[in-house]
Amino acid sequence: MTTLTSAKASPLKGTIKVPGDKSMSHRAVMFGALAEGTTTVTGLLEGEDVLSTAAAMRAMGATVNKQGDTWTITGVGTKGLSQPAETLDLGNSGTSARLITGIIAGYPIKATMTGDASLTKRPMKRVMDPLTQMGASFQSNDGKMPMTVQGSAALQAMHYDMPVASAQVKSAVILAGLNAQGTTSVREPKPSRDHTERMLGAFGVSCTTDGNVVSIKGGQRLKAPANTVVVPGDPSSAAFAIVAALLIEGSEIIIENVGLNPTRTGLFDTLRDMGGHLEIINRRDVGGEPVGDLRVKHSSLKGTTVPVSRVPSMIDEFPVLFVAAACADGETFCDSLDELRVKESDRLKTMAENLTACGVKCEEGEMSLRIFGNGTPPKGGATVKTHLDHRIAMAHLVLGAVSQQPVSIDDAAAIATSFPGFVALMNNLGTRMG
Ligand code: S3P
Repeated sequence: MTTLTSAKASPLKGTIKVPGDKSMSHRAVMFGALAEGTTTVTGLLEGEDVLSTAAAMRAMGATVNKQGDTWTITGVGTKGLSQPAETLDLGNSGTSARLITGIIAGYPIKATMTGDASLTKRPMKRVMDPLTQMGASFQSNDGKMPMTVQGSAALQAMHYDMPVASAQVKSAVILAGLNAQGTTSVREPKPSRDHTERMLGAFGVSCTTDGNVVSIKGGQRLKAPANTVVVPGDPSSAAFAIVAALLIEGSEIIIENVGLNPTRTGLFDTLRDMGGHLEIINRRDVGGEPVGDLRVKHSSLKGTTVPVSRVPSMIDEFPVLFVAAACADGETFCDSLDELRVKESDRLKTMAENLTACGVKCEEGEMSLRIFGNGTPPKGGATVKTHLDHRIAMAHLVLGAVSQQPVSIDDAAAIATSFPGFVALMNNLGTRMG
């Protein structure tokens, strides 16, 4: 385990770019691997999670290579995926696990999948249930990995009313629907990120959205796009630098080339509600996704109540929002956070325990967290547990940058799943992590 400590930072100054969007990078590799022809991708996140997806797609017949800054993926096309010779190890990546399960469901192949100590605790029943109804079969460790999926060439389309707002479940069913007989549709209780729907369009597949229902007709084939797939910077990664700049006095930074898909930007709205200076400049459209540069200036934040309708659009940003709330003046309340309990760690419990250890008063509910900030820097001075969770790790390094005493994390290794180079990038801006 690599411990890491973050001490009080100097004002953050400078212009940065964050690594490519994790969700879009997974999808670019998966769809390229399924398509006819060769897909080129730039801006791909070279984090461990995406490399797990690349290894799995290679093991099923695709060719995935990197030349300079460009990734090329030659897909299996009409011949279809081949059965992997060995167990697919998906490391820490829930997105790889859920989406690849959906893909395999529509091919007559069998695959066993596993992952690290975090991934093997996460629920897979949420994809096993609908895919079983469509005709795939599973063996699992009581709904968790290791899990074996037996796909089918005769998958049946279905309508699925999703019990939770989850882009991973929605995507797994849509991707299975690609190879099913008939039209598959999914209704979500609240809209979740729509990168699958958007990017399938670039691969020549029609996937329609009507309100909260997404539909796909089976039998459509993916074709490698003529244009390069350009992946923008990940707003979920930008979130750490944004919150640090808002909290550290005298800071002003620019983050270039950040994805601004409205299903992802709930944190930006929440930080503005708290009084944060967060400006979008140079808004543009890149390959079917909105992108812009962000200017962030130190601001005095006040507590807020996050509207529950906004939760899916900032689902990965709660750990760092809680850090902002811990430094804000007044109470912050976030409800309907049950999904946080099944992320890379139980993020509600982990954050409540760790913030308490750092001198922040908070109350954990069954699916809520209330944080009592008083507008002054928290005490800090603790070593916190990260439970193989990259976002817990980075959130506490941001907390250390603003606390009275340094904050240490017990293990920094998980940061590489989504944000290789995080520490160097932040230290160039003015933090003291090491
Ligand atoms: C993701 C969807 C979200 C998110 C995860 C990436 C995706 O998970 O937390 O980091 O790429 O589809 P859920 O769909 O389970 O909410």
